[in-house]
Amino acid sequence: MEKLVIQGGYRLEGRIVASGAKNAALPILIATLLAPGEHRLANVPDLADISSTLSLLGRLGCPSLVAPTLRVDTTRITFCEAPYDIVSRMRASVLALGPLLARHGEAIVSMPGGCAIGTRPIDQHLKGLEALGCRFELTGGNIHGRTDGLVGAEIDLDMPTVGGTENILMAAVLAEGHSVIRNAAREPEIVDLANFLTTLGARISGAGTSEIEVEGVPRLTPASRPYRVMSDRIEVGTYLCAGAVTGGDVTVTQCDPRVMRSVLAKLSDAGATIETTDDSVRLVMEGPLRPFELTTEPHPGFPTDMQAQLCAVAAMAEGTSTINERIFENRFMHAAEMRRMGANITVTGNHATVRGTGKLSSATVMASDLRASAALVISALAADADIPADERGVSQMRHIHHLDRGYDDLVGKLRTLGGHVGRVADELDDLDALRAATEA
Ligand code: UD1
Repeated sequence: MEKLVIQGGYRLEGRIVASGAKNAALPILIATLLAPGEHRLANVPDLADISSTLSLLGRLGCPSLVAPTLRVDTTRITFCEAPYDIVSRMRASVLALGPLLARHGEAIVSMPGGCAIGTRPIDQHLKGLEALGCRFELTGGNIHGRTDGLVGAEIDLDMPTVGGTENILMAAVLAEGHSVIRNAAREPEIVDLANFLTTLGARISGAGTSEIEVEGVPRLTPASRPYRVMSDRIEVGTYLCAGAVTGGDVTVTQCDPRVMRSVLAKLSDAGATIETTDDSVRLVMEGPLRPFELTTEPHPGFPTDMQAQLCAVAAMAEGTSTINERIFENRFMHAAEMRRMGANITVTGNHATVRGTGKLSSATVMASDLRASAALVISALAADADIPADERGVSQMRHIHHLDRGYDDLVGKLRTLGGHVGRVADELDDLDALRAATEA
């Protein structure tokens, strides 16, 4: 087991390259099941969730090779079950339902159950797939779906669910006739999935709006050229927050600032100067951070996946910020650990009040979920900035497998920016850990 060690108080400065988007790569990898043959994908990030998805595809009979361009061979599907050990590691496995039913006529997916950030039901996925002609039963903790052939349908989602929209879209592309998904999620990752499906021969319009139309086709075929997955807007936002709390100057290249307007606007509210080009974004932080109000919403609103990171920014601001979480219940797991670092955060239901003092202190903390861990990293980078470098403590973060699910080369990228960050064996004591951290 390893832990992350961070000595804070250093200004982050420099340029890093964005990785591919986890939340686009996952559905795209699963969508390869729809078209028998060899698929090639570029810009797939190196993450635990991607390894889990490739294990899932392997279990279904579809081998893959990671380097240099990721290749997946979906010529044959020999098994149609997403087992508990994979689904429990990665809830997105439930996205295999739509493609397996569309291509294979049968799918068994272990029930995802609750997770750290809420109950996360999948009723809308099932409702949409049922409308397209699937039948489901629940047996032994598994969802068992069957179909004798999918037929296009009009589906009104109760809420714009990202995974639900993706699952239904992936089934509809091979259904007979016309489908409409209303109240569809509008996240950029859905547009990326639709673009990928289009390269396979799917006929889709309206992706990125709340009404997606699909004209079903009898079969899909792998594209002749590799598909390049979009860049990770949440990763980019996370590094910008790290720049903001350290009074830094951080540029992230090979990304798309247009898909992260709400996050950039919030960082501007907090006092940062933001400069964008077509494919890069720079954050410069001069002067103190200002408090702000934030409410998470479906895209194009402020993304729930950036809420925890902005909570860390609020803790370093001078004044009171308010944060409302509207997408998931129980998504303030970072608050308790941030309090250990001196943050003053009061959580009432889905509302947090952050009384920023412009100061945080180093501490030993525990990661609880992916984005909560990111908030702790940002807090640790800001910690002890008010005391001389040789007297600063070292923050230690345990349970970092959560971070490995979603951040490609986190330590390397933070070191490039001048962060004093290391990854060491859990049993190393403070002194060794400090040495590792300051080797940056
Ligand atoms: C995806 C993202 C996740 C992000 C979230 C919201 C991936 C792999 N994950 O998760 O990082 O935080 O979008 O932007 O892309 N809901 C239902 N019934 C359903 C489906 C969803 O009630 O059938 C509810 C959920 O409990 C939640 C809300 O809808 O309250 C949004 O969930 P959803 O958009 O589906 O999130 P995910 O696809 O799980």
